[in-house]
Parts: sequence; structure tokens; C-alpha cells
Amino acid sequence: MRFQLTDDTIDSIKSDLVIVNYFKEDINIKEQQINDEVLNKLNEESQGLILQSVQRKETTGESGKILLIPKKERAIMLIGCGKREEYSIEDHKMFAAQAIRKAKKHAYTNLSFYPRGLEDIDTIHSLLIEGMMVGDYSFDLFKSKEDDSNPKIELDIVNIIIKSDQLQQQQDMLKEGSVIGESVKFVRDLINRPANECTPTILSEQAKEFAGEGPIKITVFDKNKIKKMKMGSFLSVARGAIEPPKFIVMRYEPANKKTDEKIALVGKGITFDTGGISLKPALNMHEMKADMSGAAVVIGAIVAIARLNLGIEVIALVPTTENMPSGTATKPGDIVTAMNGKTIEILNTDAEGRLILADALAYAVQEKADKIIDIATLTGACVIALGEITTGLLGNNQDFIDHFIKISNDAGEKVWQLPLFKKYREQIKSEVADIANIGGKPAGTITSAAFLENFVDKTPWIHLDIAGTGYTSKDAYYSKGGTGAMVTSIVRFVKDLASK
Ligand code: BES
Ligand code: ZN
Ligand code: ZN
Repeated sequence: MRFQLTDDTIDSIKSDLVIVNYFKEDINIKEQQINDEVLNKLNEESQGLILQSVQRKETTGESGKILLIPKKERAIMLIGCGKREEYSIEDHKMFAAQAIRKAKKHAYTNLSFYPRGLEDIDTIHSLLIEGMMVGDYSFDLFKSKEDDSNPKIELDIVNIIIKSDQLQQQQDMLKEGSVIGESVKFVRDLINRPANECTPTILSEQAKEFAGEGPIKITVFDKNKIKKMKMGSFLSVARGAIEPPKFIVMRYEPANKKTDEKIALVGKGITFDTGGISLKPALNMHEMKADMSGAAVVIGAIVAIARLNLGIEVIALVPTTENMPSGTATKPGDIVTAMNGKTIEILNTDAEGRLILADALAYAVQEKADKIIDIATLTGACVIALGEITTGLLGNNQDFIDHFIKISNDAGEKVWQLPLFKKYREQIKSEVADIANIGGKPAGTITSAAFLENFVDKTPWIHLDIAGTGYTSKDAYYSKGGTGAMVTSIVRFVKDLASK
């Protein structure tokens, strides 16, 4: 799929299909009128079919309602987007994704987009392109043959109609959207891979392959090196597995640094979470193949950061292992020592994500990172609190948190801060070690962050819990499975730091 920005008009542009989004205000159902110039032109072109569908109450502007008018010369697709004043960045991505999915379903391959709304947002075309790439995604790595009833359609070109005076400036947005979109697709593929095709070893290979020959340096520590580094907390999770654990370090050190800041991204890479000896129930356990979503996000994000040539040093750290029950597995009650010397009483082996993150966060501190962002499918409690819609956010520095929330809002990704009051530390006190790895049922997401806080020292840090948002069991504008949530926010946040 190629993208092209053009200042052609909607009348003159040549393509199989022209796609326009429209709003409730554009249609007066009572008077049976169209209040918009472009829609009126398209109505004429379609010999009044749009107005007829208004009369039949098919075209109402309701969000998600699509009208497709197939014609010989070029077809027209109208996508309802609700009320203009309620239209959001996320809706814009959704409209783009929906349009692509519908166009492919009907085998149109040469498309023109005439996007409307949110014209005042500088990055709007980056978001549009990202949305289209998300819509174009399907997971078929493991399909041995094509589904005859649903043949694979490759899109050829997408023209995006914009104003002439914006052509130059929006070229950068086209690049940004394509790079981020490519990373999101990579992340989704990694998450959707089953655990036998995404072991810690395969995850490391995938990271190397995606980073390619570019400026990122990758080192992968094996079990011996992990032992030497005294990552006793991480190793306690890997003990039960036959698959060897890995600790992936990816470094991006640009020549054109715009700031001396160094950012560490840390991602949870549990390639399968059985719960260990504290075994999970069987129902939906297969979804725990997605317990490496945080890892996938940080790998995708650092590659996008390098491809966009953002002038700021970034290091991505991924502790990765399976969490398995076996004769060698960690047992509830065991006490282990993390890299920073803190001792942990493991009361539940299913709270393993925080155990592997502990050592990776301590490593980020040792690396003298100025800011740390960790991302993880950490707690079921976060799914209960915020569902699949919103990412949970906690941290130790309010300015950093506020800045990140602002960037996420502008990226069309929802995050919500939960409090990290000192009082919660009482819940993870241990009678026999420095801390315990669980804090009981109440405030499960908060106590997991209170645990992580022990390993970041004084470094400004943000923790993102994507247990709900990283993976979706419904086919919405994302197809089912891994979503790639927070890639855009992280890349844009780093971009913002580099531009200050
Ligand atoms: N990987 C899970 C969290 C999770 C749950 C992710 C649902 C996605 C969907 C994590 O390792 C886990 O098992 N957490 C436990 C912690 C508890 C034992 C304190 C949980 O949330 O139940
Ligand atoms: Zn677990
Ligand atoms: Zn887990």
C-alpha cells in the first residue's frame, strides 16, 4: 500500500473509490437536504443516490454507518462520524481503519480519501495513515492456504486529498504515520504469534530482524550472563521453564543528539504465563501468549524512534521468559534477591511480571537513564478497573505523568492515572523479606506499581498497565488480538522530548 498526498480536487482525482467522512450536521433528515458542498457534488455524480439514501434514512451521519455506492467510473463511500463537535482523534483513526477494511472487502485497490474534521490538528495525517495501516492489518502468518471465501486483497495506492498550502508540511506526517503504522503492525504480529512461535529466543531474533541494519545496537544476554548480573528476581521466574530466558538490550544513540537526556523503555516479555506453581485456571489461558505485549511495544517503539531519526538517546530493555510450573519452578514462599540487593518473598508465582521488571528497572537505573517508562500486561485488576478501553498509568513524578497524558490524548490513546500513595506500600510488606510480590485483592494495579517503585530509585518513572488495552477479544476497528496500544504515545512522547 502506497500513500500519496495530493492537492487534486475531489472532482478531478482518478481512483476506483472515493472515501469521504461526514457528520450528522451535514444531513438534514427532516428537510431531506444535504448541507455540504462536497456531499452535494457527490450526490450529483451519483445521480441523486445519496439524497435517496437520506430519504430512506440509511444515511444519517450516525457514527460507523457506511454508505457504499458502486458505480462504473468510480465508487463512492460515505462514512458516518456522528456529531462534528464530538469527533475525536480516536474516531479519526477508526474511520480510516473502517474505510480500508470495507474497501478491501469489496476489492477496491486504488483509493482516494477526502478526510474532513480536525483540520486544525497538525499531526492529523499521521493519525489518518496510522489508522489506515491498522485497518489493513490481518494476522495470517500461520494460514497455509488462502481462504476462498475471503481472498486476500492487496491495496495499491491511497491518495489523500489535502489543501495545496499544506502539501509540504504534511509530507513529514506521511512519513511519521507510515513508520509508526509499520511498528504497530510488527507489534501486533508479535503479540498474535502463539507461544511456541514466540519463545524468548524467537522474540530476540524478531527484534534483531525488525531493527535491521539500522542504527540500533542489540545485545542479547543469555542465562549465564543474567546470572552474572545477579538478576535473581528475573531468574526466579525463568527457573520453571525449559526454554532459555533472554535479556534483550537495544540501544539507539543518534549522532545528531538534540538533548543529553537518555530514556529507558522497559517491556514485560513473558512469552507465556501459566501462572507457574500458582497455576492459572484453564479458561482462556491461551490468551496468555499475549503476556509479552509490553516487550513487543518497546521493540516496535525504539525501531520507530530510530527510523524517524529522533535526536535523543533511547535504550529498550526486555526481560523475556516463559512462566511455567515444573520440578524446578519457584515455589510460593521462596525468597529471592534482585539486582539492586532487595529481597523479595514470592507469595504468588503468577505475579511474575513485576519480578522480571524489577531487575530490568534496576538495570535502567544502573544505565543512568534520566527517565524510565515501563509497559506491561501486569494485572487482571487493571482490566476490571479500566476495561479494554483505557491504559492504567502510575508513576513517581507528576510533571512527567502530566506530560505523558497530554501526548497520549493527542495521539488518540486513552490513559488514566491511578494514585500511588505511600499508604499502599503497607500492603506489600513481608514478614521475612524486604517486600512481598503481592498485596492482596484490593487495589491490585496500584500495589503492583508500589512494588515496581522499589527498583527505580529516584529516577522519574512511569508505569503503563496494558493488561486490558494490549489485546482485544472483540473484532472492533482493530481486528481481534494484539492491538499495539501505546506505541504511538511512546514514540510521540520521545519525539516531544527531543524537540524541546
Ligand atoms: N499476566 C497476568 C495479568 C493479566 C491478566 C494480563 C489478564 C492480561 C489479562 C499477570 O501475570 C498476573 O497473572 N497477575 C495476577 C497478579 C496477582 C496474582 C496478584 C492477576 O492479575 O491476577
Ligand atoms: Zn501471571
Ligand atoms: Zn503475566
